[in-house]
Amino acid sequence: MRKNVVAGNWKMNTTLEEGVELANQINSLLKGKTVNCDVVVCVPFTHLTSVNAVLESELVKLGAENCSEHEKGAYTGEVSAAMVKSTGATHVILGHSERRQYFGENNEQLLAKTKLALANGLTPIFCVGEVLEERENGTYNDVVKCQVEALFDLSAEDFGKIIIAYEPVWAIGTGKTATAEQAQDMHAHIRKVIEDKYGKEVAEDTSILYGGSCKPGNAPELFAKPDVDGGLIGGAALEAESFLGIIEAC
Ligand code: 13P
Repeated sequence: MRKNVVAGNWKMNTTLEEGVELANQINSLLKGKTVNCDVVVCVPFTHLTSVNAVLESELVKLGAENCSEHEKGAYTGEVSAAMVKSTGATHVILGHSERRQYFGENNEQLLAKTKLALANGLTPIFCVGEVLEERENGTYNDVVKCQVEALFDLSAEDFGKIIIAYEPVWAIGTGKTATAEQAQDMHAHIRKVIEDKYGKEVAEDTSILYGGSCKPGNAPELFAKPDVDGGLIGGAALEAESFLGIIEAC
């Protein structure tokens, strides 16, 4: 059975002190609560070890926002999957549209990153999503299909360890969320693409999260859809109460 997951993506926000405080608040708010999903916070590399020290892993899991496509060596400024794992992190966001758009990450690199993340025991949260032009010209299903197919070099066993996040780029940080119907249609499409390659069981077991201006107010409608298994949350994950509101919608 697939799991519901609510993951926060802090992006390039919070100083170390602010991040530790936010993690503390999230951890405290979740204490004694029964929630219907796995909760993950994905934080800047600099924060991983300190945030890990304040999180109770049975309440909140820890993730990074990226990792290198190289195993190790002379890649100044890069952070490897093994380094991320050694901080206590269990998850890593890969292929976020901001990485694809601003840092030119391509399918080949993302496959290499995904393989290294898996080899190091990390759960990739692999992001896909179309830009506004592709939504408007009707190519969005094909675009997202290609992004998912970039991982089809993986074995069924490895693909089964991945979480997919559908994040329409036009909905990220814009306040303009996809309708619950648009999200459901795309999630069902993604699940079918997975099924055609890996079979029904892997497809049914894959958690597919929605991301893009998800808030406590719109989360219940989105998460009520049968193929929406939680969310990847940007802005609303930077405030403990609103992040909790989304977790409670799950
Ligand atoms: P917002 O929730 O701020 O729109 O960001 C979504 C996102 O990019 C999460 O990865």
